[in-house]
Amino acid sequence: MEVLTIYIPEDKISEIKNTADIVDIVSESVILKKTGKNYIGLCPFHAEKTPSFTVSPDKQIFHCFGCGTGGNAFSFLMQQEGLSFPEAVRVLARRYGIEIPVQNMSPEQKRRISEKESLLAVNQMAMDYYQTLLRSTAGKTAMQYLKERGMSKESVDDFKLGYAPGGWDNLTNIFLKKKIAPALAEKAGLIVSRKGKDGFYDRFRNRIIFPIYSVNTQLVGFGGRVLDDALPKYLNSPETPLYNKSRSLYGIHRAKQPCRQRDTVYIVEGYFDLLALHRYGIENTVATLGTSLTPEHVRLLKGYAARMVMVYDSDEAGIKAVLRSIGTFKREEVDARIIVLPKGYDPDSFIMKFGHESFMKIASKSQGIMSFLIDSAVNKHGLSNEGKIRIVQELKEPLSTVSDKVARSLYVKELAERVGVDEAAVQAEVRATPVGKKDDLGGFHKQTEFKKRDRLEQQIIKMMLQYPQILPEISKQNILDLFSDAGLRSIGKMALAYKDDSQSRISGIMSAIDDDEQRNLISQISIVEDSWDQKNCHSILTQFILSRRRNEKTLLDQIKAADKANDVELVQKLLEEKQKWAVLSDQQKMALQK
Ligand code: UTP
Ligand code: MN
Repeated sequence: MEVLTIYIPEDKISEIKNTADIVDIVSESVILKKTGKNYIGLCPFHAEKTPSFTVSPDKQIFHCFGCGTGGNAFSFLMQQEGLSFPEAVRVLARRYGIEIPVQNMSPEQKRRISEKESLLAVNQMAMDYYQTLLRSTAGKTAMQYLKERGMSKESVDDFKLGYAPGGWDNLTNIFLKKKIAPALAEKAGLIVSRKGKDGFYDRFRNRIIFPIYSVNTQLVGFGGRVLDDALPKYLNSPETPLYNKSRSLYGIHRAKQPCRQRDTVYIVEGYFDLLALHRYGIENTVATLGTSLTPEHVRLLKGYAARMVMVYDSDEAGIKAVLRSIGTFKREEVDARIIVLPKGYDPDSFIMKFGHESFMKIASKSQGIMSFLIDSAVNKHGLSNEGKIRIVQELKEPLSTVSDKVARSLYVKELAERVGVDEAAVQAEVRATPVGKKDDLGGFHKQTEFKKRDRLEQQIIKMMLQYPQILPEISKQNILDLFSDAGLRSIGKMALAYKDDSQSRISGIMSAIDDDEQRNLISQISIVEDSWDQKNCHSILTQFILSRRRNEKTLLDQIKAADKANDVELVQKLLEEKQKWAVLSDQQKMALQK
């Protein structure tokens, strides 16, 4: 396959690195505000309400002071979208119109080419086929079905809908003809191996096909709906190296700009719900894919909109889905709202029947989570005395987890009034409830426990990263040999070895590092700019050298003192120690001193 012959030469990587702008790239998925020289925003890698995610356009790097994650444009894309390094490079190349020359690859290069690239190509082939088929005679019934469901020709094209014909091996044969390895097509989830027999069959048969795109418009998977009452009604791609339902949202590639503009995202449950809302001009809508909303979904959406509104059916399943998401919103510190549709309607049927205006009207009456919870508890238990007791019992736990005191007391008041119970009694119940799982953030706190590092050593690394003029001096005085922190020393060595004093020097050093912790450390140390000149650099270096000498001097003083006290044994021991010092390098001396 053609895509397999692509290899990215080093000079292309630097060209891309020098062209790409980190503010540009990050702001695709994080809302950034300018503060001084840098930009700040809410970190996409952990839950936070006050921005500690910092981007430096000068240095072309980012760092989050909340969770410690840092890096350059490549590592941002890799982490944000789960890409490998070559994939991140290619996404950026495409974006900046940099052409990557096609070359014949050595076996080693072949080995390094990412599997994901081939899977994307296989998906594309399948999609071309499904799309063509829907628009051919074979797709007539399918097209008719879509029409009946209110789909216009434009939205069918817009969302690149397709049709997988009946029959067991249409796509399988196409892959065969094109000499695609069946194992690859199987890995893409498009064909399935026959149990106990040779051969494969098509996964999607006689279904309308919905291509599923990532936020960057990469074709990661498919959904398929039957044309009648056959079961299962919907079939999605299985988990593949490209497709993961807890990270994917249907329509995100189309919704991201509108979400930015309106700072609001509507979250629905179904393919047709999404298509209908988009058709009726509510384009800031995404759909989950047969799963409840996950923290990954919420984090992704946070980059595009502060307000998240769930639009679910008012049936039992819809309410359950909302209930399951409440904890996620809370942990991700998002104030979500909920639209409850009239009984019997889903977003698709509602907007088709009542139109855009009615939807906006009902949207303006969306409820906060608490008020939704109260409503559904009232519906469930009724307002008998028994019911009231149950309602308070059910809600005291979610209420106790609301950390904002004012908000909590307002909710308590709302509940008390709604249910007709004394406010103080509700308050007492909530107070007596042990606050729920705070350890949800455990993983996050672990990351923030930075190692205590030598302050002077950190300063010196910072100086080396931000003021390369000092490098000859550092190297002449063998300063790094005096370092006690091996991590910092190795960063220092990279800085010495990295011959490039362009603006993106720090970002370049990061590209050469595989270790996440080291990269995070570099961004942490270097993102806030200090003003350097020869004078203050020298003063720090002198301080550092003096502090190291002091350690040696302490040993001499101890020997003198022991001698004076006639402690022969101790003198002997200390002398041996000193002997060791004489043959050890300075750096090893530091290690012993610790
Ligand atoms: P619903 O069953 O609520 O149907 O599924 P719907 O979206 O209203 O579908 P239409 O209008 O009858 O076409 C909601 C979503 O749940 C997932 C799909 O993503 C679907 O859009 N789902 C549903 C599945 O993954 N598998 C199923 O068998 C059913
Ligand atoms: Mn529906």
